[in-house]
Amino acid sequence: MGLKSDSIVINGGKRLEGRIEVRGAKNLATKAMVAALLGDTPSLLKGVPEISDVGVVRGLLEVYGVKVTSPAPGELSFDTSRVESAHFAEIDAHAGASRIPILFCGPLLHRLGEARIPDLGGCRIGDRPIDFHLDALRQFGAVIEKGFEGIHLTAPDGLTGADIELPYPSVGATEQVLLTAVLATGTTELKNAAIEPEIMDLIAILQKMGAIISVEPNRVILIEGVERLDGYNHRALFDRNEVASWAAAALVTQGDIFVGGARQTEMMAFLNVFRKVGGAFDVQEDGIRFWHPGGDLKPVTIETDVHPGFMTDWQQPLIVALTQAHGVSIVHETVYENRFGFTEALNEMGAEIVVHKEGLPDHPRRVARRDFEQAAVITGPTKLHGANIYVPDLRGGFSHLIAALSAEGQSVISNIGIISRGYEHIIDKLETLGADFVYEG
Ligand code: EPZ
Repeated sequence: MGLKSDSIVINGGKRLEGRIEVRGAKNLATKAMVAALLGDTPSLLKGVPEISDVGVVRGLLEVYGVKVTSPAPGELSFDTSRVESAHFAEIDAHAGASRIPILFCGPLLHRLGEARIPDLGGCRIGDRPIDFHLDALRQFGAVIEKGFEGIHLTAPDGLTGADIELPYPSVGATEQVLLTAVLATGTTELKNAAIEPEIMDLIAILQKMGAIISVEPNRVILIEGVERLDGYNHRALFDRNEVASWAAAALVTQGDIFVGGARQTEMMAFLNVFRKVGGAFDVQEDGIRFWHPGGDLKPVTIETDVHPGFMTDWQQPLIVALTQAHGVSIVHETVYENRFGFTEALNEMGAEIVVHKEGLPDHPRRVARRDFEQAAVITGPTKLHGANIYVPDLRGGFSHLIAALSAEGQSVISNIGIISRGYEHIIDKLETLGADFVYEG
């Protein structure tokens, strides 16, 4: 079978062992790049991962006239002295399968008085609306016209601080408010804000630029608008999702992986579950070692939630490990409407995963309608065998990868390119860890 450039052939059953390095978080570095637009002087971002989502945002910044250079490996500098309008076609050509363009609204309204945003991409794990974003922008004074190409925003009377309460602690909508409020006239009070570590790192960046932002108790964030901002010099927070993914890989392949760059504080909820399932970890100064200490893996019941709960992005790789646990596990997904699609391929490999529309009755569900898949019931242990798999989305794709690495026999995984949206140098890392595969990219 000829290998398409986007396919990988994996011979399963080998332990993954060794050390890999995790750099900046996909879900922070891309936002930090947008924040550079707000600065009158150049910014420098370090620890930037080589992933396609970073490439998408770099392309968009350049379309708007920002000079982006790379002074050293893993570093990007942004010269925003010349920012100019761009046409939908150019923006669309660079927007790719990303949701990040929506975060350009505030900075572009401040710099140019207008913004054009094409329809957004991003993984198909729900309908990914942007109503919270648009409602917040209107409260700042933006005027929004929706056309067939996307949305066009203007701010005829400028942007003024507002009292905004989010219906749900949305990460993106919180970032939208932060990136708009910092240069708005007056103070903004944001209630029911997201407080993920990536949000706190973005706040640190904005404070370095000259913003005045205070995080109050009970998910309230106060932002005092200032006249201007300078650039920043910042090393991006590490990628929590990638760390959790490799930790699950160590469990699933009965391996031993040291993840350089991982830190404990931001991973607490994951580490507790990892331990309950029967994994072992050792926190060191320059990273965390994850290994399978032997013995049976144990089933767990978990519920995804906003920070500091168990992240929705962590359930996909964990579920692969739960197919090897002795007993019945339940994963209740409360953040996205449709985030269990990847389990179909796992069942084809021999897993026993049933997905239910009913969630756990006591959790206030973010999505009111009941026709969403809310809970996965995983019965283990089941022997996984190789299969031909088409990767559906970023995190689900990594789960297919580690399932194939642990399965008996050969798997062919196609559409593997989607994984490079969020996992840096994935082929090199698999090689370093001793995986048995063929990839002719
Ligand atoms: C960010 O998405 C991350 N992506 C996601 O990671 C992550 O899963 C998510 O936050 C939650 O932590 C990036 O940062 C690029 P939300 P975001 O706004 O900001 C609904 C990955 O794999 N919602 O917190 O889009 C939404 O549909 C990705 O790296 C609205 O209803 O997440 C979802 O059900 C996947 N209206 C829920 O809120 C809105 O206007 C949480 O979304 C916005 C969101």
